[in-house]
Amino acid sequence: MSRTPTAADTPVPAGFAERLIHWQRCAGRHGLPWQGTRDPYRVWLSEVMLQQTQVSTVLNYFPRFLARFPDVQALAQATPDEVMALWSGLGYYSRARNLHRCAQAVVAEHGGVFPAHAHTLETLPGIGASTAAAIAAFCHGERISILDGNVRRVLTRLLAFGGDLAQPPQQRVLWDLAQAMLPAAPTGDDMAAYTQGLMDLGATLCTRSRPRCDACPMRTLCRAAEAGEATKYPVKTRTLKRRHESWWLLVLRADGGDEPHIWLQRRPSRGIWAGLHCTPVLASEAEALAALPPGCRPESVVALEPVAHSLTHRELRLHPLLVDVPASAVSGDGQWVALSGLSAVGLPAPVRVLLDRLPD
Ligand code: ADE
Repeated sequence: MSRTPTAADTPVPAGFAERLIHWQRCAGRHGLPWQGTRDPYRVWLSEVMLQQTQVSTVLNYFPRFLARFPDVQALAQATPDEVMALWSGLGYYSRARNLHRCAQAVVAEHGGVFPAHAHTLETLPGIGASTAAAIAAFCHGERISILDGNVRRVLTRLLAFGGDLAQPPQQRVLWDLAQAMLPAAPTGDDMAAYTQGLMDLGATLCTRSRPRCDACPMRTLCRAAEAGEATKYPVKTRTLKRRHESWWLLVLRADGGDEPHIWLQRRPSRGIWAGLHCTPVLASEAEALAALPPGCRPESVVALEPVAHSLTHRELRLHPLLVDVPASAVSGDGQWVALSGLSAVGLPAPVRVLLDRLPD
């Protein structure tokens, strides 16, 4: 009977950690606004923003968020709407809800001070094992490895690790190997450079489809590069299938004196765009027409260009229907928001784009 391979079955290359630290210091990314600080609030905020969002996007959001919420107390005291409004456009909104909950837990349960160790950080909302490790390594020099998607790619290639990462036992083996590759007796600065080096290698050279093995400081240690098989790794059998779905967005517009107003409703607290504001969403054109305010004729509805929007598990096709109505014709759950007030409201990114570009 075959047994699950353990970390002991894969020898780790000598000299990796020292080489990575040296490379990061000479050629890695420096000067990002969340680097050069050991303030756990800033490091945590940047890591959560960077979980599913590119550095170039986070560079815009991070300073704005910090200007409004300079510390964990300020964030804990905010309303959910204020947090959502500043997060709007970054996507994956459960991150914003967890961020707020986490700030409140740090204040209520830890006296406003982030725990120092990764294993305690991991108990907080929205902080997974890799994010906890990044905070502990950057801020306190804890000897612990991160293992996000980029780092999995770097390490599986380096080790030619062919275990199927769709299988939790294989993920655990890779964690053990990641720990075995850490520098032996690092200083705090070494751990920060090592952790950043793993991220930098994955983001700049060891990329998914076109790795730049020729420019990689690890090419003489990398077993996948040696075999010319870098893109074979990581191995993961389960592939995500996105469901296709169409939504009709009823864009009700009223002439509110100086400027047009849009009717927005709060999305349910679970599911897609949970807790954000949005135009009424209907599952079919017929349902959208049936939901028109009283006295509104279907001929007055203008069908705008559909918009495609990808989520983790869904391919959405959004069909906006624009209708000009008297404000008094609409009532019920929702509110009129002036076009100039939309920036202060948490809106899904494609809905914000759509509302910014409405025809006259
Ligand atoms: N991705 C995740 N964390 C990061 C960081 N600290 N710097 C750059 N990219 C990252």
